[in-house]
Amino acid sequence: METKLVLTGGQKLAGLLDIDASKNAFLPILAACVLCDGEIFFENYVNLTDIFCMREILSTLNIDSQLLDGGLYVNAKNVKNNKITHDMTMKIRASIFILGALLSRFRSAVIAYPGGCNIGSRPIDLHIKGLKGLGVRVVERHGYIYCHGENMKAGDVVLDFPSVGATESLVMCATLLKGRTVLKNVAKEPEIVNLQDFLNKMGAKISGAGSDTIVIEGVEKLHGTQFKVMADRIWAGTFLLATATCGGDLTLKGFKLQDNESLISLLSQSACKIDIDGDMIRLRANGRLRAVPEIQTLPFPYFPTDLQSQMMALQTVCDGGCILQENVFENRFGVVPELCKMGAKISVKGRSAYVQGVERLYGAHVFATDLRAGAALVIAGLKAEGYTTVHNVHYIDRGYDRIEEKFKILGGNIKRVVEE
Ligand code: EPZ
Repeated sequence: METKLVLTGGQKLAGLLDIDASKNAFLPILAACVLCDGEIFFENYVNLTDIFCMREILSTLNIDSQLLDGGLYVNAKNVKNNKITHDMTMKIRASIFILGALLSRFRSAVIAYPGGCNIGSRPIDLHIKGLKGLGVRVVERHGYIYCHGENMKAGDVVLDFPSVGATESLVMCATLLKGRTVLKNVAKEPEIVNLQDFLNKMGAKISGAGSDTIVIEGVEKLHGTQFKVMADRIWAGTFLLATATCGGDLTLKGFKLQDNESLISLLSQSACKIDIDGDMIRLRANGRLRAVPEIQTLPFPYFPTDLQSQMMALQTVCDGGCILQENVFENRFGVVPELCKMGAKISVKGRSAYVQGVERLYGAHVFATDLRAGAALVIAGLKAEGYTTVHNVHYIDRGYDRIEEKFKILGGNIKRVVEE
């Protein structure tokens, strides 16, 4: 059985959408439920395969979660420190977050190596090095990571690179660790601030998220709480870039400018008309936009790697040339050959993709290679002349809840086809 998205390009996009809850905030926050011994109610939820996988992992730790009133109820009153096997961890990269949380609560953990989109080798050396910096004894054998925390102690850890996941793992690991832990050269992504807010609402004592230094005063235990997960800035950026590419008039509700300043600056350079009023953003685009000569992906607050493929889709039809440099992952140009099948003019040399804008794209059969490449192909298909079929839709479903329904609301000609 294969699921495909079939699109007919050429429509402008117009309408209003509420921004979904953030996948990359929800995933570490769900892992952080391991630290709590109470009940948690999330006021919002987003139906993504990655989120479902994390809930399955929690259930192996005896943490039950149920959909309730548009949100998610989590019962962490009786967490068990069970081994997390590879059939669970291989599905999502975020499974690695469980390690720091289990160590904080139980001082021991055994989990198999994580999975994740194939956008690079995705090592976990920074996670492991940081845990060792907190006194964890780590044994890696037969695809499993055995962590012994009897000698764990609070202290200072400096990350070699501002890794988002390693930052989140170490924040969770220090939360129930007596004493003061100072994490330096950490990632500053908004999702980390959201994790800090969630943990502090349960009684943790954490400060500094959003800066390059986070301070954690260990506490004894965490109580239950109610929480609303932040809006997904990458989801929002994807729909803004789709409207810039196809032309139209899009309004999004739940937007935070400070989470997206780098994108808004680039879209303004491309001659989109952007109006922001509170948490509402309106983008209007008409005709062929100007190419942005140089774009680099870098850790927050610079342009995010998770919007690189979607930005590339826009640049393929802009007037002029664009050099897109991917500085975060070593293999995140999987979308290039697929966009070229549609008539895009792109060449890759090392970490740079050279895009020469063309007047039009042509529909084709294209294959998503990862989550954001899939989103980029949907954008290109909405723009291209004729039919486009996007294969490997399971990648897209990892990060977008029924993407075709959202684009249909905006007037896009797109449907999900399931072939036996
Ligand atoms: C998070 O991945 C996100 N995933 C990714 O989003 C996002 O692209 C990435 O951060 C960067 O913003 C989640 O939050 C679930 P990193 P993560 O650790 O934590 C290297 C999406 O599309 N590195 O900041 O894995 C790594 O190889 C996904 O939603 C090490 O070398 O990202 C990469 O080159 C894709 N050793 C760079 O650091 C380590 O131990 C950034 O990785 C860890 C990372």
